[in-house]
Amino acid sequence: MIGVIGGSGVYEIEGIVIKEERKVSTPFGEPSDAYRIGEIAGIEIAFLPRHGSPHHIAPHKINYRANIRGFKDLGAERIISINAVGGINRKLKPGAIVIPDQIIDLTEGRERTFYDKEDIVHVDFTEPYCPELRAAIFSAGEKSGIDVVKRATYACVNGPRLETAAEIRAFGFLGADVVGMTGMPEAILARELEICFTGLAVVTNHAAGISKTRLTATEVVMKMKEATERIKHLLKETFANISPGRNCACRDALKNAKM
Ligand code: HPA
Repeated sequence: MIGVIGGSGVYEIEGIVIKEERKVSTPFGEPSDAYRIGEIAGIEIAFLPRHGSPHHIAPHKINYRANIRGFKDLGAERIISINAVGGINRKLKPGAIVIPDQIIDLTEGRERTFYDKEDIVHVDFTEPYCPELRAAIFSAGEKSGIDVVKRATYACVNGPRLETAAEIRAFGFLGADVVGMTGMPEAILARELEICFTGLAVVTNHAAGISKTRLTATEVVMKMKEATERIKHLLKETFANISPGRNCACRDALKNAKM
């Protein structure tokens, strides 16, 4: 099973026939919504709108642990996570689809591990995203003629406010190309459960200070909606590219990670 997390403006994936909505309870609480279980080309998909549907959960209030554990309990071995991001790197224009390869975690106060009780676990996170899943998206892009940016460092802020111009300048100096509010702790939680994980980010705006105009949530959702058709094609092609077996290190993330 492949999990898909929808971000702002993505509350369903067209083209997937939903067979059932499954509510899941986890030891970490309730996920954002029921998982939409469907199928595309014989591959089982579980879709979860991260902010609920309709959109009512702010980025800093999302129960990321419940969402990721819910996918694990459903049997998902891979997750593609869709996010809206602001472009810090001026080359990344609104509308661009970006597959990040690195993360700078600037969030605070979020539950960011499953191992905060007896087990002491230090999971390797040098490469935060699954190389196989990323490669599957790249070849989907090539096959379907959809441009994807293959490298970007994603700075994850806590929100819900947007950034100051100086913050964006500083994040740029740190090496960030895009900024968003939901990429973490999703990525590390998936790794801790040995689930392959990749982000699929859509640049919805130039970040604060780069944009000449005031940033609005409306603009974010509008740009995301404009990208829906491309996301849909890219996902369909990606699902078809994914082989059943996994050969990446994600599946053994806990090997030798426990103290
Ligand atoms: N900043 C933070 N999060 C975002 C942005 C932004 O400019 N655009 C979309 N999500």
